[in-house]
Amino acid sequence: MTARSSLTVVLAAGEGTRMRSSLPKVLHPVAGLPLLAHVLDASPKGNGAALAVVIGPDHSSVAVEIARIRPGAATFVQRERLGTAHAVLAAREAIARGADDLLVVFGDTPLISPATFERLRAPLKQGAALAVLGFHAADPTGYGRLLVEGDRLIAIREHADASPVERKITLCNAGVMAIDGRKALEILEKIGNANSKGEYYLVDAVAIARDMGLEAVVIETGEDEVRGINTKAQLAEAESVMQARLRKAALDAGVTLIAPDTVFLAADTKFGNDVTIEPFVVIGPGVTIADGAVIHSFSYIVQSTIGKNTSVGPYARLRPGTSLGDGAKIGNFVETKAATLEAGVKVNHLSYIGDTHIGANTNIGAGTITCNYDGFSKHKTTIGTGAFVGTNSSLVAPVRIGNGAYIGSGSVITKDVPDDALAVERSPQNNREGGAKRFREMKMRGKKPKKS
Ligand code: UD1
Ligand code: CA
Repeated sequence: MTARSSLTVVLAAGEGTRMRSSLPKVLHPVAGLPLLAHVLDASPKGNGAALAVVIGPDHSSVAVEIARIRPGAATFVQRERLGTAHAVLAAREAIARGADDLLVVFGDTPLISPATFERLRAPLKQGAALAVLGFHAADPTGYGRLLVEGDRLIAIREHADASPVERKITLCNAGVMAIDGRKALEILEKIGNANSKGEYYLVDAVAIARDMGLEAVVIETGEDEVRGINTKAQLAEAESVMQARLRKAALDAGVTLIAPDTVFLAADTKFGNDVTIEPFVVIGPGVTIADGAVIHSFSYIVQSTIGKNTSVGPYARLRPGTSLGDGAKIGNFVETKAATLEAGVKVNHLSYIGDTHIGANTNIGAGTITCNYDGFSKHKTTIGTGAFVGTNSSLVAPVRIGNGAYIGSGSVITKDVPDDALAVERSPQNNREGGAKRFREMKMRGKKPKKS
């Protein structure tokens, strides 16, 4: 049997005004990735799986993000926000291609899993025309209620249109629906807007399918999976559910988390074997941590690649574009950005290393700063292999320090240093014999010593 083709339509045209933010709702991050990225990632992938996203007319930033996350996805603009069914029909052109299964999901439900999409598609294989994802809401206020008879779904009633008896129903519409792709357009086009809000409601697809003599069913899931995000408080709840999942997945994969609840991960964090993460570490998007690495407390890491058997922190900040070779060591109060540190490099204390390449086994002394910015543009520092940069050196970029070179402490290096050269840039030291004693005597003259 050949696999069924699918089209997933993600609705993301909502204004999200209750977030009280200038950022479109679906771009708010959970576990380091936009809400929408989670939904796009969970929806069916691979051969025979097409994806369409419906965005608002003022959402060019959302379109940019979609192109980045799933370059193959089509985007459609819903010019007026006339309801969820109207939004689905914005993707009419894609729907008309007639995939076996049409899946509709909201862009603000980031906790949905790929397995749930598959569960929802299963009844279509058995001949149902429509399957709706349902859940029992602790507080059903605001949700559409599922009206069932036995195991048959009869209709969905929006909260605003529900009778007092219907409002007592706790089985609610999660907002995810699977429709037989060959019947979808006919069903969607029959949806009208005769309800209290005057909107075209996708949920009316159920009653219409029933009237056409077709079968509709409910597939149930837990409330945690279908939380819709309308407010910042709901965003924070989703973050905490997601973090709990990511911590558990990391522990299950063998990562040592000494105090899991204090560690924040991103949805795309990748771990090798035997990685240890100490308490109070924050990992943002785009981080890969290889076998045997130890991330010490209070480190903050974003878009970085961390090699095998490395040690990072405590109190390290690895900014985007950091790459640490195997066995490298980043110590306390070190900040890196766009920096490649080859195997065995040590930057142990109080440094800024930006726009820099450092060759294998080079040692960077405490307090070394790469002066990469002149107030107008960024410049590159290149340091060779096996070099030694003395404490409190300033490397004024663009500058190149050769293999095996040695920089005396406190130097301000503005010129390239050849391989194996010793560079010292410092004023000569002046020792005046007995000078300290004479200085004290001068200060004491005419003054009474302080009583102790
Ligand atoms: C919707 C469902 C409700 C369900 C609830 C689950 C309908 C009519 N109601 O209600 O049964 O219990 O979700 O969370 O479907 N959107 C557009 N264009 C529009 C309107 C909405 O793209 O014109 C998008 C929004 O961006 C959002 C989604 O559709 O992602 C749902 O819209 P929203 O207004 O949040 O619907 P609810 O009232 O929450
Ligand atoms: Ca909603």
